[in-house]
Amino acid sequence: MTDAELEILFQQLDTCLYQHRALWQFAPFAQDDVPWQATYPALYQALSALSDEDIAQISTIDDAVSPWLESLSDLKALYQSPLLRHSSHQPDTTDVPFWLMQGVKGRKQDQIARFVSALPTNAGQSHLLEWCAGKGHLGRLAAFDRRQACTSLEWQSDLCDDGQALSAKLDIAQEFVHLDVLKQSVGPFIQPHSGVMALHACGQLHQRCIDETVKANAAWLTLSPCCYHLISGEHYQGMSQAAKASRLTLCKLDLKLPLQQLVTGGERQRLLREKELLWRLAFSHYCQLTQVAQGYVSLPNFPKILLSGNYSDFVSWAIAAKAKSKQPLALTFVPELLELSLRVGQQQQGMLARIEVVRQLFRRPLELWLLLDKALFLKQHGYHIRLNTFCDFNVTPRNYLLIAQRQSLPPC
Ligand SMILES: C[S@@+](CC[C@H](N)C(=O)[O-])C[C@H]1O[C@@H](n2cnc3c(N)ncnc32)[C@H](O)[C@@H]1O
Repeated sequence: MTDAELEILFQQLDTCLYQHRALWQFAPFAQDDVPWQATYPALYQALSALSDEDIAQISTIDDAVSPWLESLSDLKALYQSPLLRHSSHQPDTTDVPFWLMQGVKGRKQDQIARFVSALPTNAGQSHLLEWCAGKGHLGRLAAFDRRQACTSLEWQSDLCDDGQALSAKLDIAQEFVHLDVLKQSVGPFIQPHSGVMALHACGQLHQRCIDETVKANAAWLTLSPCCYHLISGEHYQGMSQAAKASRLTLCKLDLKLPLQQLVTGGERQRLLREKELLWRLAFSHYCQLTQVAQGYVSLPNFPKILLSGNYSDFVSWAIAAKAKSKQPLALTFVPELLELSLRVGQQQQGMLARIEVVRQLFRRPLELWLLLDKALFLKQHGYHIRLNTFCDFNVTPRNYLLIAQRQSLPPC
């Protein structure tokens, strides 16, 4: 994708997300009714015509081409972009010695191997920097693969110690530095000859990484972002000129949307999840019917064995849990309210499923908007950009990869 195409895609996403913000920018659980039914009557009718079973089957991005989306032609057109569709990756053929990845679980190993094989080659770097390294598995493989020294920055001292011990044992040129990248100076570790790698660094952490890359004029940055909502302020601050000029305002709740992919799994798991959601919603209505609470009443996590009992026992457990919670509710057990609360819960569940199916269509576009903001910022500062996915969605749903390479490379 050329630089101009990146800008065009950003503007298309921006317009679409802003124009249809009524479809995704709200808290679903706080809704008693479909909040956009009057503004999107055709979409509402199309979704109402689908059975609950049909709705439950809509779980992949490829459903964005379904007939019920006819009324959102601009969004449908956007989904033609390969960056929004699930791309399938060939099995990884990187020759990773088994001893190097000891203790790294299968999916993580796959992510790391693919990330390393996507790193720029012959790109003016003579030193690797791993940002928010954890135990530094990525840095270890990259240092081995490139035969270059790697500095790994990490905040948790036990992870630094474990990672350092591993690389010492394997004789890898990797040095851990225990520091807080948000509060301490990283200047000494990031140089014009650095190739910077950040795998799944959260919101503020990856934004700082980008700022420091630009400040140091580093040779390249390879980044796969994560947890966009973990930022210091209440609202997202765009980095690029294009995002700064956008009319979109994103709060932390909005920034969680990219992480809220519908979970796939077996039929049994799906039924259990649905039962849990129904009972949670029904209990919230129970509280409202007893006039002890208004609005949605949340419950803590609970042992899933409770779901194999009946709703009445669940309500007894929930009443006891709410009595012990930080903001206790004085609820009593009223058997007459069980059936009614369950019925209202069922209605709300059907409505929420329809709301959620539509919100999901904006999940990947919003994530791409956030990524393109960073890409355009780096482009503004003289970097050439490549955007892609580095592994299949089921290896990690956070599979976007941004590669930024300094256009005029510093002399080696
Ligand atoms: C999601 S993990 C990713 C770890 C590793 N890159 C990976 O993909 O396996 C994020 C890491 O960032 C570290 N971290 C969080 N805040 C940090 C900070 N302020 N400074 C340095 N590291 C930080 C955490 O301790 C954690 O190891």
